[in-house]
Amino acid sequence: MLPRIIAIDGPAASGKSTLGLRLAERLGYLFFDTGVMYRAVTWAALERGIPISDEAAVVALAESVQIDVRPPSQADGRTSDVLVDGQDVTWQVRSSEVDAHVSPVSAYPGVRRALTLQQRRIGLRGNVVMVGRDIGTVVLPEADLKIYLDASPEERARRRYREMIQRGEKAEFDKILAGVRKRDEIDSGRAVAPLRPAEDAVIINSECMSAEEVLSLVESLCRRWEATE
Ligand code: DC
Repeated sequence: MLPRIIAIDGPAASGKSTLGLRLAERLGYLFFDTGVMYRAVTWAALERGIPISDEAAVVALAESVQIDVRPPSQADGRTSDVLVDGQDVTWQVRSSEVDAHVSPVSAYPGVRRALTLQQRRIGLRGNVVMVGRDIGTVVLPEADLKIYLDASPEERARRRYREMIQRGEKAEFDKILAGVRKRDEIDSGRAVAPLRPAEDAVIINSECMSAEEVLSLVESLCRRWEATE
């Protein structure tokens, strides 16, 4: 039997989503990128004029807003549809404004509680590749296979820069690098569910690896898991 629950964690732009999506496709599993849920709450707060610094209001929003993550309905490069109260916000949640505010939102314990519950319910159904920061440590500590994907801030900023240029967006490398560093600091330094590898995670440094190499390494870990079960 293959691992039924696969957790992939790691810092911003470490290649988690690319790996998770391809692995889920190969295995016929559900791909669930939990970062979009934090992004959806952040987008909704900005849209409704709720100050990001107002913790109680942001938590109340996270508890009441209806977030749906579904298989992609359009072939425009999206890996899933993200809906907030029925509105398709798949691309809005990727804006630089959301990028700039999502880390403080995801550091609020009440926000994490609300979203973790939903993520856990979906993950426990199995046949899932779940991607985030705390999947192996908090959301699904019982995951069969845990991967922690890492790379230096410079390499991750280079990847993000190339992606943005490819999409035809304006990009400034120094700003992207500063943003990556800032998010690392908040994601790793927060009190609740900070970014760190689970004790039983396999740590992969993807610095000098292509996406294909990372995928085949993880596929071989799945086969090895299968052989030992
Ligand atoms: O992976 P991403 O860049 O889409 O994540 C957006 C933010 O959400 C990032 O600041 C970290 C946070 N996040 C989290 O705290 N826990 C998760 N399981 C997923 C994302």
